[in-house]
Amino acid sequence: MLILGIETSCDETSAAILKDGREILSNVILSQDEIHAYYGGIVPELASRQHIKTIDLIVKESLTKAEVKLEEIDIFAVTQGPGLIGSLLIGLSFAKSLAFYFNKPLIGVNHIEAHIEAAFLENSEIPFPCLALVVSGGHTSLYYLSKELDFKLIGKTRDDAAGEALDKIAKFLQLGYPGGPIIDQLSKKGNPEKFFFPLPKIKDKSFDFSFSGLKTAALRYIKEMNIDNKSPQMLDLLASFQDAIINFLIENVKKALQNYKANSLIVCGGVARNTRLREIFKNFCEKIKIPLYIPSPRLCSDNAAMVASLGFKKYKVSKEFNLNLDAYPRIHSSKGKKWK
Ligand code: KG4
Ligand code: ZN
Repeated sequence: MLILGIETSCDETSAAILKDGREILSNVILSQDEIHAYYGGIVPELASRQHIKTIDLIVKESLTKAEVKLEEIDIFAVTQGPGLIGSLLIGLSFAKSLAFYFNKPLIGVNHIEAHIEAAFLENSEIPFPCLALVVSGGHTSLYYLSKELDFKLIGKTRDDAAGEALDKIAKFLQLGYPGGPIIDQLSKKGNPEKFFFPLPKIKDKSFDFSFSGLKTAALRYIKEMNIDNKSPQMLDLLASFQDAIINFLIENVKKALQNYKANSLIVCGGVARNTRLREIFKNFCEKIKIPLYIPSPRLCSDNAAMVASLGFKKYKVSKEFNLNLDAYPRIHSSKGKKWK
């Protein structure tokens, strides 16, 4: 079976072809970083305008690379949300047109759940129940999976996402966009113990996150100590800030593991590319003797292979699909209901 996945929820235009939901025949990703770098962050209108310009070329390239013809595709999968509404609608309408024309099933996929699926795509043996931490530019969420496809959201950020906090500090210091990978590299030259960052306190029993306090603390250091991107202290500040974010993630995972019995931990999403995060989580999981699964860097960032893979699994459990799909910018609707 051949499945074509399409991902346009944010600023990557991506199309992938998977064979039988497992084998990646192609996974083409076009980043818009160059377009948004000038503004120091994603400009939603520019993102959707770029998707509409390139979506057909990216799908075409995914077919060429996979040596597959469009009419050979058995199932189409697409990200329905959460994400930028204009960007989501481009991918959704493109996928819908293809499914309509070829009279094939169209499966809508949740973007955050697809990030988790990236770990299963590389390792089908991940033991359940499983805890999954999604850290990206738009989301920082904790999920509990008792079994396959059973995604239970147990914690989410109340303000900034982890990647967003990194990107904002990098922007303030005029280091470039996206800031996460830049801070990752620069932090290697800094001392993470030089600057003190109190870990955010979530006063209730939830497993929610909050990063705006850490961001404000970093900005305070920058202003009070007149730090700029030429200051000798900047590297120590970045290393300390990055470690504070990672330590807070670890603390929350520890808290969740006391409440939820898990046989494995998944860490995924764009920020999971971070070398220091990968090292700290590896040490933590070795210490508590729980297997850790972090997708390879290319599958951590937004990509359509994870969408196709999840779409295929959803197709296998329920074969009833129709074209009547909507796009959802947030996980919850304005009435507080989860859309799926
Ligand atoms: O998952 P993703 O590609 O898109 C969203 O769904 O948001 O994540 C993008 C985020 C950005 O905030 C970017 O700065 C961050 O991932 N990121 C990193 C690294 N590579 C990407 N953050 C820290 N270290 C990295 N190496
Ligand atoms: Zn993402």
